Amino acid sequence: MIGQAVNRVDGPLKVTGRATYAYEYWEAGQPLYGSIVGATIGKGRITGIDTGSAERAPGVRMVMTHHNAPEQGPRDESIPFEYWRAQPVLTGPDIHHYGEPVALVVAETFEQARAAADLVEVEYRLGRGRFAFDEHEGEAYAPKEANAGLPTDTAVGDFDSGFGSASVRVDERYTTPYEFSMPMEPHACLVEPRGEDLIVYVSCQIVDAAQASIAATLRIDPSLVHVVTPFVGGGFGSKLGIHSETILAALAARDLRRPVKVAMTRQQIFQLIGMRPTSRQRVRLGAARDGRLTALAHDVTMHTNPDVEYAEQTAATTRSLYAAPHRLTSHRLTPLDLPRGTDVRAPGEAPGMLAVESAMDELADALEMDPVELRIRNEPTVDPERDVPYSDRHLVDCLREGARRFGWDRRCVTPASRREGRWWVGYGMSAAIRGHFQGPAAVRVRLTADGTAVVQTDMTDIGTGTYTVLTQVTADGLGLPADRVRIELGRSDFPTSWGSGGSWGAANSTTAAHRACLTLREKLLAAASGDTRSPLYGRDPADAVFADGSVRVGDASEPLSEITARIPEEGREAEGRTLFMGDDPNYSAYSIHTYGAHFAEVGVDVDTAEIRLRRMLGVFSVGRVLNAKTARSQLMGGMIWGAGAALEEEAVVDPRSGAFVNRDLAQYLVPVHADIPEVEVVVLDGYDDKANVLGAKGVGELGICGSGASVANAVFNATGVRVRDFPITIEKVL
Ligand code: MOS
Repeated sequence: MIGQAVNRVDGPLKVTGRATYAYEYWEAGQPLYGSIVGATIGKGRITGIDTGSAERAPGVRMVMTHHNAPEQGPRDESIPFEYWRAQPVLTGPDIHHYGEPVALVVAETFEQARAAADLVEVEYRLGRGRFAFDEHEGEAYAPKEANAGLPTDTAVGDFDSGFGSASVRVDERYTTPYEFSMPMEPHACLVEPRGEDLIVYVSCQIVDAAQASIAATLRIDPSLVHVVTPFVGGGFGSKLGIHSETILAALAARDLRRPVKVAMTRQQIFQLIGMRPTSRQRVRLGAARDGRLTALAHDVTMHTNPDVEYAEQTAATTRSLYAAPHRLTSHRLTPLDLPRGTDVRAPGEAPGMLAVESAMDELADALEMDPVELRIRNEPTVDPERDVPYSDRHLVDCLREGARRFGWDRRCVTPASRREGRWWVGYGMSAAIRGHFQGPAAVRVRLTADGTAVVQTDMTDIGTGTYTVLTQVTADGLGLPADRVRIELGRSDFPTSWGSGGSWGAANSTTAAHRACLTLREKLLAAASGDTRSPLYGRDPADAVFADGSVRVGDASEPLSEITARIPEEGREAEGRTLFMGDDPNYSAYSIHTYGAHFAEVGVDVDTAEIRLRRMLGVFSVGRVLNAKTARSQLMGGMIWGAGAALEEEAVVDPRSGAFVNRDLAQYLVPVHADIPEVEVVVLDGYDDKANVLGAKGVGELGICGSGASVANAVFNATGVRVRDFPITIEKVL
């Protein structure tokens, strides 16, 4: 079962509209609707707020502002992870960024709430906001740490002398813009009060974080907060934590003793959830004539919100990618009065690889060396900064297999030398690397009396395929057909996990499920071999085989359902766990990553410089694949997102107001079907025994790492124009 391209078990529910999302729980009773009123300045103070007309408008039940909002728990920096901390809203008159909530209007219908929200009159005293990154870049400071608990700076050897004495040097600066996670399902929440308890239907990635954060904000015991989120319409990092719509719905529902639902509009999402920080990256590469790197530096400056420090780990994978004796990496932050930076698909690795893998292409060009060969020459034997072995590194295999399949040998070495009709044609490639993370997860597997496996965990399925891979691993673990496995996810009363994020969800939850199955098998075998009514009585459990819904020992066999029918419930249940990587010795003893190689072909119009992708190929090594179909979908989605980062995506700040100018999906461009040609995804067979017992590693975020650089490098190969300010739009190529 494991690895097969099994269709999504939740697919039929989704395509028939029977999968229920946060905003859709009608059984909670007739809800009230909340509409968020956002600040129309980017920095300053509310001097007056008139809610009279809104309160008198038809259907309105409440207008909440900082004057009447309940006191909420403060953000507690001693809680190790941001997403578990309180997220107070409407705390005072100060405005920290454009669009910040200044009121919630609650009414009987959605239309009444929206109409009344427009009647709230707010007067401001305008402050002097810092909105333009380039004007304030000099204010950058070193953060406490980079995201994911990684060090801000690293240094190995003597970079200056290594770089100074290199035969060939690249020293370039790259710019990446603000980018957003923009899941199909908006950030939405429905809160139903039941006595003292709150049932919270919320679109989120980590149930445990949502529960903790809501409880801390409302200053109530977490056991009173019941989070329910069986289906999530995408997250991409933006739902790792909860947002203002959830807190506002909870505050209003508790106060009004009615269910209250609040969803952000698409425009509000652009102002309220936070974004991938803009970055300025300096990459310095020094090499010998044979292509071997002697010195490598990656220095990054990003924006941060002054109140919530967030440093994307942009230079983190650079630390493990190539050998070089002299090395530097650093992360710096420039405070701006904009929404907080936050995790967006492959946080840091995606923009970081865009810069570093463009720079490697520039080095290959300077050396007149094939870019694939340049990377192979710099393959390290141990992690060059941590000085520990790699668990399972197949970057060179990915590069070679990709080059062969793509027909890389047909690439014209000289840029702007291949023309087909109206098009300059170019090939580009890039390496891919991403760290593999492990979080603590617990999964309970219970067999019903009739031998059906019920799997429960607060893990989420954010569209990635959790239901399906858990079905496969449980069916495999207990020797059951897939239709006798039922997966139940996304409830805070199920065993706790770290949910979906950092590409850890699938490997964490399936490893924990696998372990639960092993424990359960021992329990079942002990019960059967010790029971005179079982054909397995007296047999040696060590020889047991679980297959086709039965347990077989030698020539004796008994259906699982007959064993389970005889034993009490506690004998039919087991829990499996994974450790937080900081507590798992493998994660300190080995450098555990996933790898890939991207190849892209573009055509660039000779007159207009319009860039069209012609084909993309990605070859990846991710340990063991749990499901060939869902893994391919994840990787393909990442590759397409990377192409968008190279060519289209950019949220533009109005330097006068701090508002995002293009805050909707008509103006914030992402690839559509017509932009994306043939995309081929190849995943190498593998098994990483250091990652976990299943040998599986994270998949989701690898696809975007390096994909954009392969497109950018193809544009250079087609035109001879190197654009270092992403996205590569027409006017920069002309
Ligand atoms: Mo991912 S950005 O950790 O959901």
